[in-house]
Amino acid sequence: MIKKIFTVLLLLGGSCLAASAQDVQLNKGWKFAVGDSAQWSSPTFNDQNWQNIDVAHSWEPQGHPNYDGFGWYRIHVVIPSSLKEKAYLKDSLRLNLASVDDNDEVYLNGKLIAKYGGRSGTIKDGNYGPRTYNISASDPAILWDKENVLAIRIYDTGGDGGIYGDNFSIGMADVMDHVLVNTDGDFTFGENNSLAKAVKLITTNKYQYQGTLAFKVTDPETGAVIYEKSNPANFTAGKPFTYSFVIARLAKKSYTITYTFNDQKSGKEIVRTETTPYVLTPYPSAKPKINGADVYGARPGNPFLYLIPATGKKPLTYKADGLPEGLKLDAATGIITGVVNQKGDYPVTLTVTNKLGNKTKTLTISIGDKIGLTPALGWNSWNAWGLSVNDEKVKISAKEMSDKLSAYGWNYINIDDGWEAENRAADGAIVANSKFPDMKGLTDYVHSLGLHTGIYSSPGPRTCGGFLGSWQHEDQDAKTYADWGFDYLKYDWCSYSEVTPPHPDLPALKKPYELMRSSLNKVNRDIMFSFCQYGWGDVWKWGAETGGNSWRTTGDIQDTWRSMSDIGFGQDPASPYAGPGHFNDPDMLVVGKVGWGPSLHNSRLTYDEQYTHISLWSLLSAPLLIGCDMGHLDRFTLSLLTNDEVLAIDQDALSKGARQVSKTDEQQIWVKELTKGEKAIGFFNTSDKYQTVNLDANDKLLNGFTKARDAWEQKYLIAVNHKYTFKIPPHGVKLIRVM
Ligand code: GLA
Repeated sequence: MIKKIFTVLLLLGGSCLAASAQDVQLNKGWKFAVGDSAQWSSPTFNDQNWQNIDVAHSWEPQGHPNYDGFGWYRIHVVIPSSLKEKAYLKDSLRLNLASVDDNDEVYLNGKLIAKYGGRSGTIKDGNYGPRTYNISASDPAILWDKENVLAIRIYDTGGDGGIYGDNFSIGMADVMDHVLVNTDGDFTFGENNSLAKAVKLITTNKYQYQGTLAFKVTDPETGAVIYEKSNPANFTAGKPFTYSFVIARLAKKSYTITYTFNDQKSGKEIVRTETTPYVLTPYPSAKPKINGADVYGARPGNPFLYLIPATGKKPLTYKADGLPEGLKLDAATGIITGVVNQKGDYPVTLTVTNKLGNKTKTLTISIGDKIGLTPALGWNSWNAWGLSVNDEKVKISAKEMSDKLSAYGWNYINIDDGWEAENRAADGAIVANSKFPDMKGLTDYVHSLGLHTGIYSSPGPRTCGGFLGSWQHEDQDAKTYADWGFDYLKYDWCSYSEVTPPHPDLPALKKPYELMRSSLNKVNRDIMFSFCQYGWGDVWKWGAETGGNSWRTTGDIQDTWRSMSDIGFGQDPASPYAGPGHFNDPDMLVVGKVGWGPSLHNSRLTYDEQYTHISLWSLLSAPLLIGCDMGHLDRFTLSLLTNDEVLAIDQDALSKGARQVSKTDEQQIWVKELTKGEKAIGFFNTSDKYQTVNLDANDKLLNGFTKARDAWEQKYLIAVNHKYTFKIPPHGVKLIRVM
């Protein structure tokens, strides 16, 4: 019955449909209340005393910290019939609601006109994301040219809640709705600094689109158009149009490509822009080099596993002198295993050899109470696969990490939500669902590659994705994870709010984490403990003493500049609390192909924004958890994740978080103290224009240092007339190390 009165649009490209100029903007004027009442949908309900709310942001920072559950938004709006008159298609009205967290019901003048009910159709399922609805223009609920009351009922299962984002509007559905310029193919890098790619014009509409596709490349530094071409383009449902191009002689920077399709019949057009990738990371030398942190912590008496991360032309052979008693090295694979019973700091000399020579490095193996001495470098399934994660995807990720990334120190393969079966076993043990037929077999496989592996749960009865949590089964679950062979646990608050009093105080916030900490202490395995409770109660102030190796400082990240930069540049208060074995976690990386599963898209961050993301997270000593499809690591993403000098900043053994030393509307400078008295400095351009930095060699930032090295390009900067001069692209960064 409900299905007849509304249509949920399948969003092409996963974002809200573009608003047109005549659309009625709904960004301002909303009223809000927490709670739930059927009366709140009524047009006659008096909402004057409700709170004014800014729909650019979730409800948490607007007076409702930690609030999960129902909330209602209301707005009074005139819908002019001129919308219809100006429209090319006149049959449906389109409502853009930016992002909804988690599910919603939309009432227009008291009538339910749309809803997004989650997987099994109930509003209480977790299913956040972009929302756009089409409503028939002849629906009697619409009062044309009169005041309408739009009321939106939201249910939030955990974390951020409400509606938020940029695009709230009502307009007519457009001939260009469900038309997409699909740019998700990879760029290929060719001769003469050229880039090639194919893009597609796709639609699900039966309408025959006929017109031209204009292709334009501009240099954002000068504004100059460096390439332009126009092609006839025809397409319809099932018959996409493909446009392939090559652009040559590009400088080492990003350009902007604009694709404009113009439909002849309707005169309508759709515009999409993207930027071009450029690689700064040099190719690794064929000579051996040992990467990774200088320290590694493990507990006495527990299974030990460490892969010596090294690049160089294969085959490589490995040697380790000074290993503590109980450990042995496989000279062909570089994997060190065993058990050490005696506490202590053991300096071990690692040597890696190939035909071209050898390289040595001292690694301090610290056997004691602390593990995870430097931030985890790994992969987590969530930002790519969401709840569609399965055994095969995890194995592919492990294999790819082993082949392409472990030589740089990457070594955790973590399963997020979605692995749990519907019911526990008769004895109460947690069981994996059919997507994970053999958990022990899976962890054995990951360990055989020298890598570690992680799992996910919630202290509540249910996880954020609605699966079984560990509530009242903490000891039993910790034991199961250890028996399966897991090395990392992400523990996500989610439905724990249902079993703790509202507005939990500090002891109540700590309680579930203390409980699981004591359960993990009872098993004979080193299991990294990652808190996920979105930063509540300034978790950075008590995460370490509660036994966390890391703690999320924020709600969930998205692959947008707003989300990534708000989170990253907001970390200064938490920074002083990072230290060896315990780190702030500003959430997982959104580079490469992401999508929260099952379908993926290229990160919506520009390439310069991706450089900023990795640079900032490294300065912050954040765990770097790749959130993309590891099966398709394109050349740019790989270059971003395999820069040993950038990773060395993240993995520095001092484990300090960078501090923000200056901030204007257009630029920020963050400084991280490193071992040996060195510093890493990030100059961030937060504006949308190119910037030139003239840094005096006597500037106090450089005081006492004689050399400055560009971490991405791995080159020393040369001062001219005592000045270092460099350009920073829009939303980009210059990351340097001074020594
Ligand atoms: C929360 C967390 C995410 C992810 C999901 C899984 O939203 O913050 O990182 O783990 O739950 O459901």
